[in-house]
Amino acid sequence: MPGNNKVADAIETNVDSLIAAWVECVQKNVPASKDKSPLVLINHLKDFFHTLIKALRDQDFKLQNVANFKLSEDHGKQRAGLTDYSINQVIQEYHLLRTTIFDFLDERAPVGRRERNIINEFIDDFIRTASATFSDELRKRLTDALKMRDDFISTISHELKTPLTSMKLQTQISKRNIVKRLQGAAPVEGIIRFIDQKEKGINRLNHLVEDMLDSSRINSGKLRLEKEDFVLSDAVQEVLAEMAPYLAECRSTIHTDVPEGVHLYCDKFRFEQILINLLSNAAKYGAGGSIELVAHLKKDEIVIEVQDHGRGIHKKDQERIFQRFERVNSPGERNGLGLGLYIVRQLTNMLGGRIWLKSKVGKGSNFILQLPLQS
Ligand SMILES: Nc1ncnc2c1ncn2[C@@H]1O[C@H](COP(=O)(O)OP(=O)(O)OP(=O)(O)O)[C@@H](O)[C@H]1O
Ligand SMILES: [Mg+2]
Repeated sequence: MPGNNKVADAIETNVDSLIAAWVECVQKNVPASKDKSPLVLINHLKDFFHTLIKALRDQDFKLQNVANFKLSEDHGKQRAGLTDYSINQVIQEYHLLRTTIFDFLDERAPVGRRERNIINEFIDDFIRTASATFSDELRKRLTDALKMRDDFISTISHELKTPLTSMKLQTQISKRNIVKRLQGAAPVEGIIRFIDQKEKGINRLNHLVEDMLDSSRINSGKLRLEKEDFVLSDAVQEVLAEMAPYLAECRSTIHTDVPEGVHLYCDKFRFEQILINLLSNAAKYGAGGSIELVAHLKKDEIVIEVQDHGRGIHKKDQERIFQRFERVNSPGERNGLGLGLYIVRQLTNMLGGRIWLKSKVGKGSNFILQLPLQS
């Protein structure tokens, strides 16, 4: 039954100042909250006080009649996502709420035993729910992280094993051929061919390791750009020369249409790395068809498109493939770590540009890169 209650009245007319006092107190006392604004609890504090006021006025109040507050669940969950929060700090935020309320009421309204119990029951119930959700969420995140680590170890082992196995085989054959050659029975060309193949394997391993290093540099904010002035068509020619053996291996032909004399001022090495990744995907997933690399100026930006005519990418996968380790698997899929497009998107952002794609399953994909001439 609702009735008059002085404590409820005092809280009701001062909800905003109570919240402000609590925020000040938390930011002074809970280290992890310092740069968190607004505090998560704040979104729900009005509901909290509203329910508390009702409970104080209800002579038949029982805590179990109050629906379990979603706010403490949200609070625990959100705090678990912030690495600098410990469970003690989550609990401390509630204890400070309790102190704030009692300090405030001390000066304004006499708090009887019944009211004190209700306020304490509310806060204790919140602490229970928030800490349980906090622990559950941490456990879930840990399990996800462990699974991701296991998946990563398995992918990377597979990726490293493939070139290592063939390099081992090539080394054994080369050794046999050298012995034969010394006995005058093996042609030099055969030996050179195997050494060439070994070099390819080494390049592939090198590439994998470089991608992993770049991805971790990007993730930890340690990748630094070095700007320089260069001519777009020269950079494209260099990339094509470097990629010629791979394009030939994938039986891809390439057509370019790039304006002459366009200068870019940005990190040339990283710019070329973006093109190499896009072209290698176009070759890898392009089913041996033609690839078009075209560029045009748009105000003070350059727009570069890499178009292939391969299997295409389903709409639902088009955003996901820019994330780390995300791949679209299909039977007989060629190898890869799923890092290429992640690196491309991150580098593009760092160069002040953007990248997106248009694609139709079975028809091919068009990756569009837009970069400022000067970044
Ligand atoms: N041109 C394309 N056509 C079709 N699918 C593509 C194309 N480019 C990328 N994809 C899909 O997107 C996924 C992610 O590409 P990404 O370049 O990030 O990784 P990857 O090529 O698998 O490995 P790597 O780390 O060696 O680049 C690929 O696995 C492939 O499924
Ligand atoms: Mg790739």
